Amino acid sequence: MATQRLFFALWPDPELQQRLARVAAALLPAELGRRVRAENLHCTLVFLGGVDADQRLCVEAAAGEVRARAFNLQLDRFGYFRRPQVAWLGSTVTPTELIRLVADLGGGCNACGFPPERSPYEVHLTIARKVRRDPGRPPFMAIDWPVDRFALVESLNDENGVHYRPLRFWTL
Ligand code: 2AM
Repeated sequence: MATQRLFFALWPDPELQQRLARVAAALLPAELGRRVRAENLHCTLVFLGGVDADQRLCVEAAAGEVRARAFNLQLDRFGYFRRPQVAWLGSTVTPTELIRLVADLGGGCNACGFPPERSPYEVHLTIARKVRRDPGRPPFMAIDWPVDRFALVESLNDENGVHYRPLRFWTL
């Protein structure tokens, strides 16, 4: 059966994506890794992988049951995962409503047959991949992101590489 590669994410509006891309450019020298294109910048909530049509209906219904409220996400951390070689922005404090959102969504997806995440949720927004060495911790101005929606997103490959397409949004 045909599947789509899907995940749930916080999806910044284009203006915030541009702002995040500018911060990424200031934090990371151009030769150090491959920056995520502005229009691809997002924050994954629940990763699903291959999803068929019935499963998609199921997870969309689960998304409609989410009761978490809108919240403010302060991106005030810049970090580096050595093994997957990614640089990211994250939060010192994970908002309670974000934890609730991930728990609601994860539980719903689990009921649709997707395995639960093994590790506790840590918010991160990947800004660059194939970062070969630790970029250090240059200071930056924290970004306030008022979050009032989340998205189901499809991961596609085009001639420029991977491309993410939000399919549907839910308001918090
Ligand atoms: P990453 O940015 O940390 O690589 C689309 O691929 C999104 O889903 C990315 O944000 C990616 O996170 C995340 N993702 C990809 N594979 C994943 C997996 N197996 N588990 C959790 N998240 C995954």
